[in-house]
Amino acid sequence: MKPIKLPSSFLLGSATAATQIEGGDKNSNWYHWSLKGMIANNESSIVAADHYNRVIEDINLMKEMNHEIYRMSIEWSRIEPEEGVWSQKGIKHYQDEIQALVEAGIKPLVTLHHFSHPQWFEEKGQWTNRDSVKYFSRFVKKVVSFLGDSVNEYCTINEPNVFAMDTFMDGKYPPGKKDDILSYFKASKNLILAHLKAYKIIHSERKKMGYNDTMVGIAIHLAYFEVSGNNILTKLSEKLMNYSFHQMFLNGMIEGHLTFPVGLGYPHGKGIYCDFIGVNYYSRHLIHSSNNPAMLFGEVKVEAGLPDEKLNDLGWEIYPEGLYKVVKEVFEKYKLPIYITENGIPDANDSKRAKFIYNHLKEIEKLIADDVDIRRYYHWSLLDNLEWNDGYAPRFGLIEVDYYTQKRTIRESGRFYGTICKEKEITKKMIDKYL
Ligand code: BGC
Repeated sequence: MKPIKLPSSFLLGSATAATQIEGGDKNSNWYHWSLKGMIANNESSIVAADHYNRVIEDINLMKEMNHEIYRMSIEWSRIEPEEGVWSQKGIKHYQDEIQALVEAGIKPLVTLHHFSHPQWFEEKGQWTNRDSVKYFSRFVKKVVSFLGDSVNEYCTINEPNVFAMDTFMDGKYPPGKKDDILSYFKASKNLILAHLKAYKIIHSERKKMGYNDTMVGIAIHLAYFEVSGNNILTKLSEKLMNYSFHQMFLNGMIEGHLTFPVGLGYPHGKGIYCDFIGVNYYSRHLIHSSNNPAMLFGEVKVEAGLPDEKLNDLGWEIYPEGLYKVVKEVFEKYKLPIYITENGIPDANDSKRAKFIYNHLKEIEKLIADDVDIRRYYHWSLLDNLEWNDGYAPRFGLIEVDYYTQKRTIRESGRFYGTICKEKEITKKMIDKYL
């Protein structure tokens, strides 16, 4: 293994999402989803990693791991628990959290929708409701006004593609629809429009406050797709999937271009609606032909017979080369700064995470050498957390959480990563010690 050197301007930290770590909120759609027994082992989002009550302790751990940046989300249901009603308690909580981060020298990147929203919004049909953009915009304006100068970087929507897929095609997220293609496209359209509107609101609101340093982007899940076999229909299916899972969202959210079937034309005018592209990258997906009538989406499988070291605890393939490929392609196309807004591994016994980090940073080193403007790496995740419908078993944390006592312990891989955050390199000595 060779040492790795990153430029000093390259920033490293980690990412989380409110529902997955905070606990305590009964107004979000995920709490209601857990009440229906829809999370593995009948788990609930109600306690999670109790981060809501342990913000300072967790920021201290970030400091201990030399974080320079941190991606977090704001729980909409804590700010607007009932339609049109703003919670001062919720607002103050996030103002204090952000203040504490800034004081710790950790720069926040704030996500405004990360898979969860208020139950009242859910009951209105969530993103399929034609007024969803209006509701979300009002929330965005509120957040920007109460965070003021303390945050200049926003991620509007996290993984609209995975969200729409898991909500309307795979039935995993509330309201658990299956193969509902119409809702998939309807919600996708509104998510794209919500981003475009939010992009404009955040810029104009901050401009009114006198700030010109605003950076707004998306966090898009880019999977590396590969066709399995030579079947012409499978190849077609891969193309359709790539389009409806990736390109359609990129067209819309970056260029403001609604393309078939979510729409036609430029509702906000031609332009560029991202100041950076946040890429969430996890794995390679092999596309097989499908018996599913919604053949459009093919069927994604992991290559048969992969050795254990190539698989994570959820059975996804570990494929670092894919990070290079998806980032290179999206950068060549749009030439916008790239942040890796998520990349990580469920690895309960911490036997693969350090190597995973090394191998993915190696790809980033190559991207930098190839003149890709890649600026950030947010490891998923700071802490073990609620892996949505898969519950608490998958362990993505640099920090282990004992859910009975809420005790935090930095894993060995977390120590390794903390040293990388500080040194911006992986030396021979670190390789010998951790890998
Ligand atoms: C999501 C996270 C999730 C992670 C691991 C991403 O799809 O943004 O919320 O925990 O992947 O599955």
